[in-house]
Amino acid sequence: MDRLFIFDTTLRDGEQVPGCQLNTVEKIQVAKALEGLGVDVIEAGFPVSSPGDFNSVVEISKAVTWPTICALTRAVEKDIDAAVEALRFAKKGRIHTGIGTSEYHIRYKFNSNQDAILERAIACTKYAKKFVEDVEFYCEDAGRTDNEYLARVVEAVIKAGATVVNIPDTTGYCLPDEYGAKIKYLMEHVPNIHQAVISTHCHNDLGMATANTVQGVLNGARQVEVTINGIGERAGNTSLEEIAMIFKSHKEKEIITNINTTRIYNISRLVSSLMNMPVQPNKAVVGRNAFAHSSGIHQDGVLKNRESYEIMDPKEIGIDDNAIVLTARSGRAALKHRLSILGVDLDQEKLDIVYQDFLKLADRKKDINDDDVLMLVGKDRTAMHRIKLEHLQVTSGIGLQAMASVCLNLSGVRRCEAAAGNGPVDAGIKAVKKAISNSDMTIQEFLIQAINKGSDDTGKVHMQVEYNGNVYYGFSANTDIIAASVEAFVDAINKFIN
Ligand code: KIV
Ligand code: ZN
Repeated sequence: MDRLFIFDTTLRDGEQVPGCQLNTVEKIQVAKALEGLGVDVIEAGFPVSSPGDFNSVVEISKAVTWPTICALTRAVEKDIDAAVEALRFAKKGRIHTGIGTSEYHIRYKFNSNQDAILERAIACTKYAKKFVEDVEFYCEDAGRTDNEYLARVVEAVIKAGATVVNIPDTTGYCLPDEYGAKIKYLMEHVPNIHQAVISTHCHNDLGMATANTVQGVLNGARQVEVTINGIGERAGNTSLEEIAMIFKSHKEKEIITNINTTRIYNISRLVSSLMNMPVQPNKAVVGRNAFAHSSGIHQDGVLKNRESYEIMDPKEIGIDDNAIVLTARSGRAALKHRLSILGVDLDQEKLDIVYQDFLKLADRKKDINDDDVLMLVGKDRTAMHRIKLEHLQVTSGIGLQAMASVCLNLSGVRRCEAAAGNGPVDAGIKAVKKAISNSDMTIQEFLIQAINKGSDDTGKVHMQVEYNGNVYYGFSANTDIIAASVEAFVDAINKFIN
């Protein structure tokens, strides 16, 4: 069996997605859950990009014990200096530096030439190597880089001290056989290739990230860069759970990872909830329908022998049919236990707040599941809001003009307004706009999704609001979807209204 190293970039490439930003406390929660999952490397951020990113790398380095903590840089000395400083508490630290190697990057981004870029690649690797032993070099847009030049860069950076060389398909352009052939070419043409680990980093623009990553591994790569739920720039990155389950299911490939797959489902829900990024129902491995057999023929087959239609046992990824369901009679201890299984450890004060919200929700909803619980934990973000929705009342129905009245708390000042609309959500949002005396924002995307099933279920609302040429993201969850919609709007406007 050959060991495949799992490099998780949920907190760097994943977190770059607009609307998915986490604060440091939330990033630590995800990092601890990744450690429990068994990843080898956590890419914790891009320290030079912002004080928040810098601080997150510092705090994750302190919080995490055994995975390597990695910090991203450009091929620029000040970036590397910031990464070195941010990694000072890491038990094992890695600098991930690099530069674009395709003609698109060399000519148009850098207005440079291949030789000059090769020199910069060598220089930044040597510079990083002065501070840390573990240096990973990325050849950005390697997917569209000519193989002969790519091989020269890989050989040179290994000679300069790189321990890992990353071959990103940055634009998600490669076909699986093409990407596999690229890794094979490097394995066969770079004389010192065995002095470093070759890494894949595939984007999903054409839906081929996982297939490309698998081909990379089958041709010699021994590290894969992945994210939970496949989140990442544009169409996302290769998803960790798919790679872990592919190699677990296909034992004949003789590849093993250190992933404790029974933790996959919980971390998937944790990331989705903290980042307010829904998992598509038909997502491989972790989607709600991934194990739901709806056709009669399939159900009959599964009942006779599970393996007739299921290639994975849901328990292998941590879906437990017998999981304890929380109800209004559950105590704080049961809630705390459930949260810790989901990777969330709360102090007593925070637990008390979440427990009060839990009791209110349990009054309205019979069974509280993991998604509800995670939603409650994320809810107290609104505590920092300057604009708070204190009251909402709507009338609507067939043959009625929808009307809404709202009361907002605007930094301590209460303001109430009413408005009519073409439906209750429209009326509620118009009333909010009146109350803040600003109607210059437009809703660009509005998604309502039930967490589970049943008419008493919680609805999650994601909203994109455009204001002054920028897009802001709002989120809320409530058993009343009209209230959730207006709350999501208020959440979004809190991101830009002073
Ligand atoms: O997609 C990419 O090329 C990257 C690099 C910065 C590693 O994310
Ligand atoms: Zn990337």
